[in-house]
Amino acid sequence: MTILVTGGLGYIGSHTVVELLNNNFDVVIVDDLSNSERFILENIEKIAGKKPVFYPFDLKRKELLTQVFDAHNIEGCINFAAFKAVGESQEKPIDYYENNLFSLINILQEFKTRKISNFIFSSSCTVYGQADQMPIDEETPLKMPESSYGKTKQMGEEILKDFATAHQRKISLLRYFNPIGAHPTALLGELPIGVPNNLVPYVTQTASGIREKLNIWGNDYPTEDGTAIRDYIYVVDLAKAHVKALQKLIASDEATVIDIFNLGTGKGSSVLEVVKAYENANNVAVPYQICDRRAGDITIAYANADKAERELGWKADTSLEEALRTTWEWQKYLESRSV
Ligand code: NAD
Ligand code: WQD
Repeated sequence: MTILVTGGLGYIGSHTVVELLNNNFDVVIVDDLSNSERFILENIEKIAGKKPVFYPFDLKRKELLTQVFDAHNIEGCINFAAFKAVGESQEKPIDYYENNLFSLINILQEFKTRKISNFIFSSSCTVYGQADQMPIDEETPLKMPESSYGKTKQMGEEILKDFATAHQRKISLLRYFNPIGAHPTALLGELPIGVPNNLVPYVTQTASGIREKLNIWGNDYPTEDGTAIRDYIYVVDLAKAHVKALQKLIASDEATVIDIFNLGTGKGSSVLEVVKAYENANNVAVPYQICDRRAGDITIAYANADKAERELGWKADTSLEEALRTTWEWQKYLESRSV
């Protein structure tokens, strides 16, 4: 069965392509390399021993997308392609709406006319905002995210629910918590393009000396050590959940399926706990300073991922330390490439 993976050379997409190939799916990737590089394709092949078909173009170019659907018997899609920087989305909201939503709609137009089902969407825990209760399950009320990025995720979910209902199709909305880590081979990971916004890439660059100090955004939160709490999920565990979610859609006899799953570990870790775990896992120092809170940050978010365990037979079981160890190996790999 052939699956279209958009953004398949990106961070989560590349790990998922490996898992799909390992599970005998044929993969067609569309990625415009706006946030990736070609060597990722070679590394996917090194790991999986198979090469996915790759088309380097922007999904907003509808005519090129139509040609891909003409050329392959696509029977499902995992749609990773999106811009994802929260801060940047506040400066360039229209670019975010255009990229994230036009891409999605262009694919759905092909699905609609060709009567294809099985669509998986990369959503985010950002759709819950600061939830009133922890842990966050799928019944937790959604709050309109502050950022335009977050709004593209909430709007994407609504578009997909309407699509599934009106056209009787099977979709899965996967709400990721905070993905971290790299492939155990150190051949895939998050590419450091620009100054990292996310915690673990910034910690990594601090440990390697690229950044002088980590800025910890606030230690006056109502948590045990005062720093904010998140649910850090290992990217390979996350990638495996996509295969399970896809297999569930394919196996379903129902015409219309709207699945929603929280993908997290169920455990919250504070910023300081992540820093300490990084130092212990990799035997490195991470100098830091405490700064004011970052605008728009929430205090605490961690998942109740029981539904995914129950219905997908999936559980994120890699430890924080192990995930952080792979991150450091990936950093060393990147440094070895640049010398
Ligand atoms: P990423 O930037 O590494 O991957 C996205 C890929 O899509 C990149 O390779 C980029 O080149 C490509 N792309 C972007 N716009 C495109 C377009 N118009 N046409 C073709 N290719 C395009 O991001 P990621 O961290 O792997 O995230 C994947 C998905 O998961 C995104 O939708 C993101 O919003 C979502 N998500 C990510 C996180 C996270 O913290 N990383 C958390 C929750 C949800
Ligand atoms: C984690 C914690 C920071 C950097 C973002 C998006 C969300 C989702 C995941 C896509 C926070 C603190 C960070 C630093 C720090 N992405 N921090 N110093 O904010 O939970 O979520 O990524 O959907 O939508 O908003 O992740 O990694 O940026 O921050 O102290 O240099 O680390 O304040 O408490 P976040 P993050």
